[in-house]
Amino acid sequence: MSSILLLTSSPRAESLSTTIATDLAGKLQAQKAGSAIVRRDLTVLPHIDDLFTAAIRKPADARSAEEAAAVKTSDELVNELLAADTIVIGTGLINFNIYSSLKTWIDNVARAGLTFKYTENGPVGLATGKKVYVVLASGGVYSQGPAAAMNHAVPYLKSVLGFLGITEVETIYVEGLAYGPEAAEKAIGAAKARAEEIALAA
Ligand SMILES: Cc1cc2nc3c(=O)[nH]c(=O)nc-3n(C[C@H](O)[C@H](O)[C@H](O)COP(=O)(O)O)c2cc1C
Repeated sequence: MSSILLLTSSPRAESLSTTIATDLAGKLQAQKAGSAIVRRDLTVLPHIDDLFTAAIRKPADARSAEEAAAVKTSDELVNELLAADTIVIGTGLINFNIYSSLKTWIDNVARAGLTFKYTENGPVGLATGKKVYVVLASGGVYSQGPAAAMNHAVPYLKSVLGFLGITEVETIYVEGLAYGPEAAEKAIGAAKARAEEIALAA
């Protein structure tokens, strides 16, 4: 069965990245018979802490009860990631990067021995065979033009996902939202149209 992992990271009730990412996941599900959506609101994830960073360096059977509890959510997030064949990520461009809640998800799923491993030839990603769609909402325009160099979100996501073995990443920009209502409407329309195209081709 196909599993679509939907990750939303905006704390905003009116979030455009959440709206369009949710819409895209729903459309993909409708195209793939028998597929299921696993949804994670990343805004509720706690930051990683001292206990967590100690626990992930130990084998599971060497962890204290407290350490085991500290990695429980991380283990669930890793299993969801490994089980998914399609991942839809919604995020805003926040101070030129991703929402911190999405960064926290990355900190939880980048686990040596589970989603990547070190070899004699360097690190190898273990979360292979997945396609990722990133819905990125932003006030300015960062897909091209003078501000593109300040888009740290997409290069970062491609780097870290690539490190985990995920190389198929497409970004759906919902951009120029701060350039007035007309520009915003156009940007939302274009992103929804791209979501429709992606789903039809799936
Ligand atoms: C704290 C904060 C920082 C932001 N930083 C940027 C930025 O660096 N560049 C930009 O174009 N827009 C920036 N924005 C605008 C957001 O990208 C925009 O509101 C987007 O719609 C947020 O995504 P969301 O609608 O999914 O919450 C920022 C917004 C907030 C609240």
